[in-house]
Amino acid sequence: MAVVAYFNGQFVDPDGAWVPLEERGHQFGDGVYEVIRVYSGRPFLMEEHLERLERSLRVIDIANPHTSEEWAHLIAESVRRSGEAEAQIYLQVTRGSAVRGHVFPGEAAPNVSLVVRPAAAPVYPEDAALLALPDERWPNVYVKSINLLPNVIAKEAAKRAGAVEAMLVRAGVITEGASSNLWFVIGGRVYTHPANRYILGGITRQFVLQLARETGVEVVEEAVPFSKLGEVQEVFVTSTTQEILPVARVFTDRRIASALEALPAEPAETLLPQVQDPVELWRRPGDAVVTERLAEAFAQALEKFRNYEPLLQA
Ligand code: PDD
Repeated sequence: MAVVAYFNGQFVDPDGAWVPLEERGHQFGDGVYEVIRVYSGRPFLMEEHLERLERSLRVIDIANPHTSEEWAHLIAESVRRSGEAEAQIYLQVTRGSAVRGHVFPGEAAPNVSLVVRPAAAPVYPEDAALLALPDERWPNVYVKSINLLPNVIAKEAAKRAGAVEAMLVRAGVITEGASSNLWFVIGGRVYTHPANRYILGGITRQFVLQLARETGVEVVEEAVPFSKLGEVQEVFVTSTTQEILPVARVFTDRRIASALEALPAEPAETLLPQVQDPVELWRRPGDAVVTERLAEAFAQALEKFRNYEPLLQA
């Protein structure tokens, strides 16, 4: 069985499973999630993902329904059942099922769901582009909340414009992508937004920071001002599913460009603007030397992980 699904203590039919309609994740987006990649049957950076889950839950005051050991066991058992060596795990914890009401329900127990599905190695287009858009998310995106409407809209706008990802800009600085972290090479150093409340501190980001230090690449956890894009030599994207994706160009629409510094007060007719009047903001001026060095280090680390990491016991 390729796709495995789990809900509150039971493995369920992935096509036939239902959550209650009066469920707080469903009605309010009142929950958090994690995405973990599985390589050669082994969940990659699982402890780090479980630590972030713990933090997300703590911040929104949901008691973690499982200990780390229980999570590890559940993950191992799910991967084992899937029989997939190359897979992706989606897991979600919500505040639970209760009659709809904004105030936290007293009695509800968290709902836990998990899906394992096959995953392929990421494919990187030669001319991968980012679409610059205003970052309209709430200022607590360090919580890996299932409330992803602004992210979903940004990603769809990017896709419609022919970009692989959005480049979100808040108050004049570049924060991150719609579902990834962003990196910029300036003068041989690599810059990425500090892991504060304005980005989701990626687990891949943390891993790449470590790889950069080991590889002798200087990294600076400092936000890059949007106005400095012209000084950038290389751009890349990191996430659990994309690993390290090299970027060739960044563009936007002329009307969007004017909203990147300050958002207009008027409600927009659509949050999915079409790029009709494209403005190229950046194009890679040369080879992606630093990106390739880090991608190579990442590939080597994965190779080691695949071959030497003991398999988790279910
Ligand atoms: N997205 N920033 C945002 C907004 C994200 O949604 C993600 C991950 C990241 C990168 O985090 P990590 O390296 O831990 O994957 C940064 C996942 C993959 C998703 O929503 O599918």
